[in-house]
Amino acid sequence: MDANLQRRVQRYGWDKAVSNYERSWHAQLEPAQTALLELANITPRDCILDVACGTGLVTIRAAAVVDPECEIVGTDISEQMVAAARLAARVRGATNARFERMDAEDLKFAEESFDAVLCALGLMYLPEPEKALREFHRILRPGGRAVAAVWGQRNRCGWAEIFSIVDARVQSDVCPMFFRLGTGDGLQHAFVAAGFTNTSARRLDTHLHYASAEEACVAAFAGGPVGLAYSRFSDDVKQQAHTEYLLSLEPYRRGKAYAVPGEFVVVAGIKGAAVQSK
Ligand SMILES: C[S@@+](CC[C@H](N)C(=O)[O-])C[C@H]1O[C@@H](n2cnc3c(N)ncnc32)[C@H](O)[C@@H]1O
Repeated sequence: MDANLQRRVQRYGWDKAVSNYERSWHAQLEPAQTALLELANITPRDCILDVACGTGLVTIRAAAVVDPECEIVGTDISEQMVAAARLAARVRGATNARFERMDAEDLKFAEESFDAVLCALGLMYLPEPEKALREFHRILRPGGRAVAAVWGQRNRCGWAEIFSIVDARVQSDVCPMFFRLGTGDGLQHAFVAAGFTNTSARRLDTHLHYASAEEACVAAFAGGPVGLAYSRFSDDVKQQAHTEYLLSLEPYRRGKAYAVPGEFVVVAGIKGAAVQSK
């Protein structure tokens, strides 16, 4: 898929997903977000950037740890996500958090601006995540940390059929390389290639819990990255896609509810001090 098209699909897809996002994903993503914050080891004096911040779930938790005068910035490609994050920060009293619409691969910050860069469940959606990781490295101060969480290996994510089901009904792939970083040591290798040292990785098994078939379908189709394609389906096509998706979840159905397995990978790395030339 053309990189600009992928960015547009993400930008406008997440705009559409925003109203369903927290009710569909807040609890489900919490274990990965908590592991990411643990690995980030944030201290009260840290200046922090949260990339692909969505509605600000991680940004606002990070803002609570740092001193009020330390700035926390959240960036996201979706205008509606940024607007939702601004509102959430106001409501939750995170007065030191600010938000901007920005592509993760082209961060408009000077070199060595931040002590920590966070990115929870964002890198899988980028045309070139390696470029974003190089950006994280550039804007970190020496000794600063980057931490990213992605979904894990495809065969450990029981909901993975969502992409082929939607792709079969549109012209192009919605998330062409979604599972690449979560497979094997993909994410850790990408950190090293971007210049990070002292990398560490954690894999977490999880389950996505849905009380009903409807809840599972809203989360997958309306609350996530396929939102743009899905919004253009006719009612008949939506119905067919739901039926196919629920069939793929059948092994994980418990009566009316579902417990769908999933896996997260969380990687942290340090920007080493610059080597002085004599
Ligand atoms: C699954 S949400 C994660 C949001 C948040 N980090 C969290 O943990 O709740 C993925 C986010 O990635 C954003 N995104 C996708 N492509 C992006 C890009 N190229 N640059 C910046 N953000 C992007 C989407 O707009 C969406 O808000």
